[in-house]
Amino acid sequence: MQRQGSYLIAQTVPVNVLSIGPGFMFHSVILEGTMYMNTTMNVKTLWTRMTIVGGALLMIVLFKAYVELRLYLISLTYSENKYVAAVGRVPYRNETVRPQSIDDYYEYIPELEDLKLSPDVLKTAAVNWDIKSDSDADTSWIRKMLSNKRARTMFEANRLLYKLQDSALRNSSTDCVIKILQMCRESCLQRTSKHFWTRSKCKFSNCRIEMKVGNDLADFQQSDVVIFHIAYNRTWASLVKTRLPGQLWVFHSKEAPIHGPQASPPREFGNPFNISISYMSESDIAPGYYYLDTEQKDKDPKVLRKEKLMLWVASNCNDTSWARRDFVQELQTYLPIDTYGLCGHLDCPRSEKECWEMRGQYKFHLALENSQCPEYITEKLWFNSLAVGTVPIVFGAPKADYERLTPPHSFIHLDDFKTVQEFIDYIHLLDRDQQKYLEYFSWRRLGHVMKGSTMLTNHTADNGKILCFIIRTLLIKSLFPEMYQWQARHPVFYDWWYGMCREDTQKTRIMDIDVTMKTDIAV
Ligand SMILES: *[C@@H]1O[C@H](CO)[C@@H](O)[C@H](O)[C@H]1NC(C)=O
Ligand SMILES: *[C@@H]1O[C@H](CO)[C@@H](O)[C@H](O)[C@H]1NC(C)=O
Ligand SMILES: *[C@@H]1O[C@H](CO)[C@@H](O)[C@H](O)[C@H]1NC(C)=O
Ligand SMILES: *[C@@H]1O[C@H](CO)[C@@H](O)[C@H](O)[C@H]1NC(C)=O
Ligand SMILES: *[C@@H]1O[C@H](CO)[C@@H](O)[C@H](O)[C@H]1NC(C)=O
Ligand SMILES: *[C@@H]1O[C@H](CO)[C@@H](O)[C@H](O)[C@H]1NC(C)=O
Repeated sequence: MQRQGSYLIAQTVPVNVLSIGPGFMFHSVILEGTMYMNTTMNVKTLWTRMTIVGGALLMIVLFKAYVELRLYLISLTYSENKYVAAVGRVPYRNETVRPQSIDDYYEYIPELEDLKLSPDVLKTAAVNWDIKSDSDADTSWIRKMLSNKRARTMFEANRLLYKLQDSALRNSSTDCVIKILQMCRESCLQRTSKHFWTRSKCKFSNCRIEMKVGNDLADFQQSDVVIFHIAYNRTWASLVKTRLPGQLWVFHSKEAPIHGPQASPPREFGNPFNISISYMSESDIAPGYYYLDTEQKDKDPKVLRKEKLMLWVASNCNDTSWARRDFVQELQTYLPIDTYGLCGHLDCPRSEKECWEMRGQYKFHLALENSQCPEYITEKLWFNSLAVGTVPIVFGAPKADYERLTPPHSFIHLDDFKTVQEFIDYIHLLDRDQQKYLEYFSWRRLGHVMKGSTMLTNHTADNGKILCFIIRTLLIKSLFPEMYQWQARHPVFYDWWYGMCREDTQKTRIMDIDVTMKTDIAV
């Protein structure tokens, strides 16, 4: 099984050149020596033989030195050449790439010292454990708080808290129903079968939780809690007007704000949401798209051997905030990049296990986000690169955000390079220096990539725990407002959400490449 792919350009070029020059000289010396031995067989034989051997050895040493020098010179030209074109690229072989044995993996991933997880990475892990464990630990504490007679809340001030307190004081499950409506638009409604009220329970209360996904104003007007999914573009004025007194609102988004500013309450409504759930780490509930589970440490991480250099997978070609496809096309003239998906030339069905293993055969993955928004770091980095076992080359959020929110020394950010040439040089360097390349997997000793509790994406799946977590968060905020300060910190929702990544603040250059969106109008 051939492993080291021939895309290793530098190693294949010099071989023929070298075998001509010094090789020829070497042969001549041996020839002369042999002739001399045949004609004069006397006392000087030993001396002659030593000279020959010594000369041969000297030639070998010189030859070796010459090889090294040539390689060095070639590596110099390599970096001086403007944009070395890709040669010797190995096309995707359409066959099973499932690892057959331990030999299919690199022998050892280097250990980097001082590799530390940032506080944000640890915090995200903690939130996810909290949601998933659904622990009993604070149940008695909450029950006790709820049955404190002196802290009674008015129904009109906080419907949720009132009902929970009332039920706790009566210590009975009858007549206590908490209604939660998830408001979203058509595309979201199509993805769920829960168009009726479903029932569940939380450990800290006897109340019954009823949840529905819908769009109905009648449902809206009998719900204690309303969760608004982003891109819900109803007339906000009428919603704010018909909002029940004491009804709690939750903001929920998996997407970046760049997709549709018309979908949020206009400026004049301030911040009507009591808590937020999003990928932003300052949200009240921020479980991340993925997170690093530090309880699953891998002492001896395994990474599949690489046969190919770089891949890009995308299906969203046009609807991006920067000219992502053009950018990749430009890079392709300098580096061998295989492109998959609707925007590429190769096909690799997302659902197939083999497709993921095929991705793991690449050294680098272009994990380019469709928008440049703070902290917007999606599965392109987490799953499609880190979990699969390839090094992500990232662009989107600022580098500092990646450093705060992802495992240490796990990515290459394009902001690090002033020119494409610098970038290419660095990729070539890592390509040739296996140790340096494999250091990008050292973080694997610190934890395992896991899917975050991405909240209410699949409305039929595991909603009990996450709903209880949302209710618990609302409850704690109602009792101790200082514990969840997002709403207070952002009195105008619109300014927070749309202010953080407006279209006019998107970068127009990456390295020395122009990435402004070109209009597709043919004249
Ligand atoms: C790979 O092979 C399968 C079946 O052998 C075929 O259906 C598929 O189209 C092939 N894909 C490519 C990219 O050639
Ligand atoms: C509530 O009722 C249950 C049984 O229905 C009982 O075990 C529990 O002690 C009661 N709690 C309080 C605070 O009265
Ligand atoms: C709201 O969404 C609907 C359907 O997606 C669309 O037709 C309508 O134009 C949108 N309204 C606004 C104000 O954006
Ligand atoms: C929820 O938000 C609304 C709108 O800002 C506010 O009037 C209400 O007091 C908040 N409720 C709680 C419990 O924070
Ligand atoms: C992107 O735009 C081009 C040109 O307008 C069009 O031909 C192509 O179908 C679009 N691709 C997608 C995936 O929307
Ligand atoms: C949603 O969850 C249900 C139940 O766990 C599962 O059968 C279904 O495939 C999921 N749907 C999606 C789109 O993930």
